[in-house]
Amino acid sequence: MSNMYRGIKALGLVAMAGLLNAPAFAQDSQEISPEDAKKLFAASCSWCHGNFGMKAGKGGPKLAGTSKDEEGVYNTIVKGQGAMPSFKNTLTEVQARALAKYIKSLPNE
Ligand code: HEC
Repeated sequence: MSNMYRGIKALGLVAMAGLLNAPAFAQDSQEISPEDAKKLFAASCSWCHGNFGMKAGKGGPKLAGTSKDEEGVYNTIVKGQGAMPSFKNTLTEVQARALAKYIKSLPNE
């Protein structure tokens, strides 16, 4: 009986260690797929920038073809610009960089 208890306890510890490791592991991987960047854009940016950045939206300009380079776009996301709020506290650096990359990948039409 006590052996079984010890076994269950050990299993619990392993499971907990797994849970604790999971977020750190996700942060370590510096990769956000283009599809996830697009989803993130839809969730965080689309209400001001229309059609996934391809059109001006309610209050925000079209982002495709921006004259800013990737670093400039990243800075706008982190610092905000004019009526656009800063996303410093809502997005991680990895997310902001993925969004900058996403915006620079939009076709300039
Ligand atoms: C509350 C509305 C709003 C939200 C939400 C918003 N933006 Fe903006 N964004 C603006 C406005 C307004 C401007 C123009 C600011 C100015 O130049 O005066 C702008 C400008 C920009 C620019 C600069 C474009 C250029 O060429 O100068 C980028 C890049 C940008 N936004 C990206 C994003 C991203 C990425 C998100 C989501 C994380 C986002 N924005 C969310 C309103 C918003």
